[in-house]
Amino acid sequence: MKISNTSLIGIGNTPLVKLNNIVPKHSAEVWVKLEGVNPTGSYKDRMAVSVLSKAMERGDIKRGDNIVEYTGGSTGTSLAFVSAVLGLTFTAVFSDAFSKSKQQSMEAFGAKVIVEKSENGSITPDLIKRMRDKAYKLARTPGTYYVDQFASPDVRAGFKPLGIEIAKEIDGPIDVFCAAVGTGGALMGTYDGLIDSNLHPDLIALEPLQSPLLTTGTGGPHKVEGIGVGFEPPFLDKNKLKAIRAVDQEDAFKMCRLLAEKEGIWGGGSTGLNVVAAIKIAEEIGPGKRVLTLNCDNGIKYLGSHIYA
Ligand SMILES: Cc1ncc(COP(=O)(O)O)c(C=O)c1O
Repeated sequence: MKISNTSLIGIGNTPLVKLNNIVPKHSAEVWVKLEGVNPTGSYKDRMAVSVLSKAMERGDIKRGDNIVEYTGGSTGTSLAFVSAVLGLTFTAVFSDAFSKSKQQSMEAFGAKVIVEKSENGSITPDLIKRMRDKAYKLARTPGTYYVDQFASPDVRAGFKPLGIEIAKEIDGPIDVFCAAVGTGGALMGTYDGLIDSNLHPDLIALEPLQSPLLTTGTGGPHKVEGIGVGFEPPFLDKNKLKAIRAVDQEDAFKMCRLLAEKEGIWGGGSTGLNVVAAIKIAEEIGPGKRVLTLNCDNGIKYLGSHIYA
């Protein structure tokens, strides 16, 4: 199937914008890649099309096969969308700790959604483990393909074009690239694309202060969807990192509202967290430099959540 003849053509080639109203004077510029404009409103569309189209090309899957993954809903919605286009079915292991609208989105694309119960709506290491165990069990059914979002090389490769696009869109160097980490696929894949395009920013990984596993070795309950998974994701290549920073989730949620009101950029908690860190770094490194970060997904997914309530 030619992707250019399908709705998958809408994936990627997203805008890159500079923040004009919320970055303090005497700071570096802050640039944000608007990934919320992908078809399902998330940069995860990039990994979904990469993983599933490459698996089809290799003959690992064929039309009618079932795809399985555990997901906070963004990856699941992207996998459900791409599965629908490619004639696959998709089963998501999800939880009530994540936005209800994400469950509805997966179901709208025809996915089967299994909901694992959380404790008080918090994302905890134990919840992630239970979700993963259930997905592994389902993946043993014949005719089922496990996406393996934490280890498949097709995930990281799917984000490489993001970095290549940025290099084409921006005129000049980037001093720092920072982004929050779930699988680490977006951070590392984008970085691969930047490096391939001859840009060499300092790379900074981000996580929620409420679950500072990468910075302190101990995770905890938090409410930033998509990141802070409670273990060190294998994609995260610490040798390439300049630093890892923890950001308070409450500052991230406040930033989501400020971004919408002052910059017209609408995102979820991970976007808010990315921008809090990017602005802080911009203040630290000062004028004449550039910080790059990502708007991971579209705020419309979070209208029913605490962020915009
Ligand atoms: C909203 C959101 N932000 C950030 C991330 C983290 O992206 P990655 O898994 O590529 O590190 C995810 C991952 O699911 C996500 O859903």
